[in-house]
Amino acid sequence: MISLVKASAPAKTILVGEHFVVAGCPAIAAAIDVRATVEAERLSASGIIEVDSRELGRQVFEAGKAASGPLYPVYVAASEVLKLAGCDIGLRLRVESGIPPSSGMGSSAAVAVATVTAVAALLGISLPPGEISRVAYAAETLVHGRPSGIDNTVSTYGGVIYYKRGEGFTKLKADLSPVRIILADSGIQRSTGELVSKVLALKARHASILDHVYEAAANLAEAAKVAIERGDYPTLGELMNINHGLLSAIGVSNAKLEELVYAARQAGALGAKITGAGGGGMVLALAWSEDAGKVAQALSRLSERVIVATISQEGARLEA
Ligand code: MEV
Repeated sequence: MISLVKASAPAKTILVGEHFVVAGCPAIAAAIDVRATVEAERLSASGIIEVDSRELGRQVFEAGKAASGPLYPVYVAASEVLKLAGCDIGLRLRVESGIPPSSGMGSSAAVAVATVTAVAALLGISLPPGEISRVAYAAETLVHGRPSGIDNTVSTYGGVIYYKRGEGFTKLKADLSPVRIILADSGIQRSTGELVSKVLALKARHASILDHVYEAAANLAEAAKVAIERGDYPTLGELMNINHGLLSAIGVSNAKLEELVYAARQAGALGAKITGAGGGGMVLALAWSEDAGKVAQALSRLSERVIVATISQEGARLEA
């Protein structure tokens, strides 16, 4: 009987289509090599799940008792797997996430995906990726309300993913080796759920105007898919810039995000935009690999945290 298992799952960054994806438009996101790790261990007491997070402290949950708190979604993800396995053993979960929370990098989804993967392996049940992603989505609804599902999908499968709510996803054949993804933190934390609701309310108030913006975003995502598959990064960069403008139009930009976006473009990025829910969080720049240093340097004058990321082809995985 296995008594301890460790699993990890990657962060994501949305290349095009955040927010618009909530209303059914396509979006494209990439998994990146910044990971959340969850270690699952059996406890002798049944019905108890202890969650210990390096970033968020410690919480102990008891089966059947009402609970809340920042680690509650981790408990929900783990107890869903216990239910699927038909067992009620106790668990200790140690969470370590290198992914900044509330930054647009999908930290809660990566933690949920890593939790499901670790607990399933500990219990000796084999969950197909679709099932891992589905259970992680259930935990995500506690964090973000009614998310599109793009975060848990990318974190489960890895790679570059074209995603359409309700229709599933395609893993794109993309050689991103000539370019780099540079992320810069605005230092402003925000709630994805609140921003999604704010955007949907704006859309409802100005439907006749914003329907066209959503249509443009859908066309833009299709064009970005073609550009990625052709390896046409100048076109992808241009489309990212347009996408940023559409995100400003739906009210999720601010002065700090604009400052970062323009600094990246001025330093030679092919494109730069908000990534994720906006309102704060990260800005994403795309640059030729030889220009990435210059772009990162310009951004680090304005941001406390700059990450030059590589794409993670691997999604959720067990760790040795
Ligand atoms: C979340 O990373 C991005 C949003 O599009 C929300 C969602 O897709 O659920 C803003």
